[in-house]
Amino acid sequence: MARKKVLVLGSGAREHALCRALSAEAEVTVMPGNAGIAAEAATLPGKADDLPAVVAAARASFAELVVVGPEAPLCAGVTDALVEAGFLVFGPSRAAAELEASKSFCKDFMKRHGIPTSDYAVFEDADAAEAHARAIGRPLVVKADGLAAGKGVVVASSVEETCAAIHAFMREGLFGAAGRKVVLEDKVTGQEVSFHAICDGARFVPLAAAQDHKRLEDGDRGPNTGGMGAYSPPPVVTPALEARILAEVIRPTVDGMAKEGRPFRGVLFAGLMIGERGELSVLEFNVRFGDPETAVLLARLDGALLPYLEGAARGDLGPLADRSPPVRNGPALAVVMAAAGYPESPRVGDAIEGLDAAAAVPAVSVLHAGTRREDGKFLTAGGRVLCITAHAADLDAAAEAAYTAVDRVRFAGSQHRRDIGARARTPQKSRATTP
Ligand code: GLY
Repeated sequence: MARKKVLVLGSGAREHALCRALSAEAEVTVMPGNAGIAAEAATLPGKADDLPAVVAAARASFAELVVVGPEAPLCAGVTDALVEAGFLVFGPSRAAAELEASKSFCKDFMKRHGIPTSDYAVFEDADAAEAHARAIGRPLVVKADGLAAGKGVVVASSVEETCAAIHAFMREGLFGAAGRKVVLEDKVTGQEVSFHAICDGARFVPLAAAQDHKRLEDGDRGPNTGGMGAYSPPPVVTPALEARILAEVIRPTVDGMAKEGRPFRGVLFAGLMIGERGELSVLEFNVRFGDPETAVLLARLDGALLPYLEGAARGDLGPLADRSPPVRNGPALAVVMAAAGYPESPRVGDAIEGLDAAAAVPAVSVLHAGTRREDGKFLTAGGRVLCITAHAADLDAAAEAAYTAVDRVRFAGSQHRRDIGARARTPQKSRATTP
């Protein structure tokens, strides 16, 4: 039987993981991809948020399914443009992507539907926002309302810092139009985890929880990043807590979006804070797969991915709905290797050595993100360069395998954390991978 033709949009490790998983079942083309993807699948040039170019790529690749990786094209309406042109698309419509495109929409939506989240207020006037911050008298979280490439959130540690962030976002225009409106919200503490669910507009398939490491340096220090590594499943998400996440967060979100005429078809990524006594609070929703979370979620998947994405795209998961897909025993762990200067100003053009040696480590998958190829050599071409993922019988073994591979890769100025998953690992063994 002819294999289905699938077009994946994006260029990160998430798209490399999706490409690898789908290649077992389909003929995959990626737009634009990266050097690692290009070594394994067909790629097309262009930008994933250039809507006419994406429609042209879907036609050129005879796509029977388009899978959208990043948020920017979704929030710009790529799904609507492709559906109008007659394509089947995994990824929410622009109206449903509002959950990620607008933080104020997201908070108001959660309030309307009784989904647990911290108290907040929304401002379009900087004076009023500062007056609110001073009246509250404790540091707040400041969020740019619009998309800011994952950088539009400041967790202030004083009222002055709250006001400085308001000033930078609203008066200085740090994020342009995306920061002219802000959400000020109460801080919540605990362990941050995410939960992914594939949704068809009415029903869903729960995937699993994962824990990302957002700060650049070990011990959760240094600047915020897109994510420096992840593991799944995190033990803090017990079966009882998972049942609550589904009942208190995922179910009411899917129902609420349908009720509001924005049925959610695609993958819903709930960013959650779990308090010390198991309190559940939604920090944010994303409307696409997480990166690096996708690497660990797909490393554990035991079986086909395509039927889930097709079912969600068609709006009917059928018998796949309401239960988790089969997963392999044991956890997965991913370590991101980033370029010199990341996250502020990543340097590009450094030669990457040792990729074959890293890929030869048993149970390891070397996923590319910001890479390009020149004269047969792989070079750094973005902030996050590689995502080295391992699946093993336990987290210590997964970390051991991932770090063995990481240590075989070299590029000038390379940065990575040595403590991915340390919170859930055996303390003694965890020290073995930290300097
Ligand atoms: N790892 C966080 C994100 O994908 O947004």
